Amino acid sequence: MHHSEHPYHWWQSGVVYQVYPRSFKDSNRDGIGDLNGVIEKLDYLKELGIQAIWLSPFYPSPMVDFGYDVADYCDVDPMFGSLDDFDRLVASAHQRGLKIIIDWVPNHTSDQHEWFKESRASQDNPKRDWYIWRDPKADGGLPNNWGSVFGGPAWTFDRQTGQYYLHQFVPEQPELNWRNPDLRAAMYDTLRFWLKRGVDGFRMDVIGMILKDEQLRDNPPNPQANPNAPANDIFGRLLSLHNMDQDEVHQIIREIRAVLDEFDERCGIGELWGDLDRWVRYYGENGNELQLPFNFRLMWEPWQAEAMRRSVDALEAALPPFAWPNYVLGNHDQPRLATRFGGQAQARLAAMLLLTLRGTPTLYYGDEIGLENGLIPADKIQDPQGKNLGVERTRDVCRTPMQWDDTPFAGFSTSEPWLPVSADHKTRNVKAQQADPASMLNLYRQLLKLRAGTPALQIGSYTAIDCGVENCFVYRRQVQGEERIIALNFSAEPRKVNIPGSLRGTIILSTHLDRNETTALGALELRPYEGLILVPEK
Ligand code: NOJ
Ligand code: CA
Repeated sequence: MHHSEHPYHWWQSGVVYQVYPRSFKDSNRDGIGDLNGVIEKLDYLKELGIQAIWLSPFYPSPMVDFGYDVADYCDVDPMFGSLDDFDRLVASAHQRGLKIIIDWVPNHTSDQHEWFKESRASQDNPKRDWYIWRDPKADGGLPNNWGSVFGGPAWTFDRQTGQYYLHQFVPEQPELNWRNPDLRAAMYDTLRFWLKRGVDGFRMDVIGMILKDEQLRDNPPNPQANPNAPANDIFGRLLSLHNMDQDEVHQIIREIRAVLDEFDERCGIGELWGDLDRWVRYYGENGNELQLPFNFRLMWEPWQAEAMRRSVDALEAALPPFAWPNYVLGNHDQPRLATRFGGQAQARLAAMLLLTLRGTPTLYYGDEIGLENGLIPADKIQDPQGKNLGVERTRDVCRTPMQWDDTPFAGFSTSEPWLPVSADHKTRNVKAQQADPASMLNLYRQLLKLRAGTPALQIGSYTAIDCGVENCFVYRRQVQGEERIIALNFSAEPRKVNIPGSLRGTIILSTHLDRNETTALGALELRPYEGLILVPEK
């Protein structure tokens, strides 16, 4: 069966690759990546073997939160290029069979957005109700106890009009009022603006937060709060009971989906943080909400096979039949996976896990060459989260420039980049890894190629296998008589696993890229941190 013949959607069979545009490739020597830089690298992405590119925001923005503070939903910041550049990017991607997914930030705008400028002008401005304004309490206090994700309270007082406005991120990100029908209509039009330009989908920023409790009740304390969190981490000390995943948000998501469905084959991806039971509802009661509510669970698991398996099995068990799984191991808000999981060997195994589970994987730029956390001196911190909550919370570490070659600025730019290039770019870069058959990059390419050519891996069922030893995760993927076995050793020691069902199997890929042999499955030997993909003998 050829993969184009099966009745699956591109967002099911393909792999998504996240580009953080500021850090991918600078085409005009200002030290900041841009859309033309992404166009220059389309052939690289095509060769890598991904299906869709998700671009973090490139909208006009004062960049207080690096583009997640949007000043105009229907334009491109000159720093990143122009609408013409964007159209060329879409056309060039489509020519190569690549899809373009863009970020959409519906929870808040920049305080420099025209809508907010109007809204804050007076209490009776027609756009006053497009944002969330509240009177001070009788004693002059804040309207409720909510905190900002980036530290401090979620309310800022506006002297001119004598009310507080809500912002669960920086004060320069006032939150929109999705209970207002005119605001909803205006936001749906921003989707149509890009859908007409040919975008294939949206990654929707903190979509579970767009609707709040109607009475804005106080959140209860979080019993699991980190006792060592900085004093200003009010958000972390409360349970997100009334500020996210409200029942009424689902009606809005169905409306958003209806806008996507005015066009063919467009995909909605949601950034969601809640527990499994809250999260699974975003697929809709019969698949009428988001196609891919981001599943971040593996990202939070310890480096341990049993924990990973439990997470996957729980997800599989929670999904209704129409819901398609997905997995994420890194993004622009988390430490680099090679750092988080303890090293390059672990990162190679993680790549095999991510690309062989049932469901759509999302890759983060640079993970394919094993980028590690950047070292950001305190005075170079750019991220508001790092500035407000401390160096150890800064997200700059995972946003350092992509390492294309060993030149002074790693081939990212010929000028000083906005964040320091990591010193390891001398050896860890695309050019060097292209030339090294055993590199991380070649592992990613082979995994992606294998996946694309193997229906069992792309769309097959998933069944965990009890393999009898500790710290190994083994599973079977199967479709129409085609079968693959994946055996992953999370331990730093060699392991022998028992795979029931067949006596022998052929190794078609090892994370070490040095093994292709037929072997007994009753005592399959795995080296430290080795992962194998096998075809069992019938
Ligand atoms: C989630 C985004 O991924 C993050 O980068 C951003 O700071 C917040 N949402 C606010 O938009
Ligand atoms: Ca640039």
